[in-house]
Amino acid sequence: MTDTKLRVCTHARTYLMCRPEHFTVEYAINPWMDPAKPVDVALASRQWERLAEAFRSLGHTVETIPPKPGLPDMVFAANGATVIDGKVLGAKFRHPERQPEAGAYLTWFRRRGYPQIRESAVVNEGEGDIVFAGRAILSGYGFRTERSVREELTEFYRLPVISLRLVDPRFYHLDTALVVLDADTAAYYPAAFDDAGKAALATHFTELIEVKDEDAEVLGLNAISDGRNVVVPEQATGLISQLKSAGFQPVAVNLSELLKAGGGPKCCTLELRQSGRSKASGGA
Ligand code: ARG
Repeated sequence: MTDTKLRVCTHARTYLMCRPEHFTVEYAINPWMDPAKPVDVALASRQWERLAEAFRSLGHTVETIPPKPGLPDMVFAANGATVIDGKVLGAKFRHPERQPEAGAYLTWFRRRGYPQIRESAVVNEGEGDIVFAGRAILSGYGFRTERSVREELTEFYRLPVISLRLVDPRFYHLDTALVVLDADTAAYYPAAFDDAGKAALATHFTELIEVKDEDAEVLGLNAISDGRNVVVPEQATGLISQLKSAGFQPVAVNLSELLKAGGGPKCCTLELRQSGRSKASGGA
């Protein structure tokens, strides 16, 4: 048997979440969404509570932002902003249906007294596409976020930015096609990237777990790692085994109702990375 690496959670995380009180699928801005398909809002809410509970039981803190009526996708907090080293880059949504969410999230950060908040001039859907990877920032583009957000990211966060083109409309945000497990390790779905993207990922990460079609197709990669524990959709059974073999601790959750909007656990979660922490944290 080969040695598995010891995986460690370096510190307790703080996650921002938004209750799916006004969640529905009433428009379609990605291939997962079908307004004709009914959503069980009460079930969505229970699933969301269990996700929050999973984070708390791992020792992490959950903060919440009040949901706004008329913004059914606001539950996907990952898109609300980017937060690295205590610095907040505001989102700017591509689709008019989601545009008012950006201001709601900025208001939350202002009220919380975050000292460095920057409004973005470029279309970017927050940490749906902008993924912190310890020593660098990965920036997905092709469907939602503009590639040119890299200039803002470099200037604001002073970290190298690796731009990754997404090529499959089912994986329209980077966090549907890749999960950073720690600073050196990621799991990803190769078919969602072009050759240059695959090469860039192979150069950056020392360990890359390739996920199978059936796990990607239940948005299995929409997972959150603290360096050791990985909160992952329970439908992604193959990925769960791969994570275990690699020494991670999978924590399976079921967000079937949110999946009808093209979202999973990671979409519902925005990590609030405090200043001075991000460089050491390495993880997602
Ligand atoms: N319905 C939402 C949209 O299409 C889902 C967002 C999922 N969020 C994410 N971080 N991938 O924008």
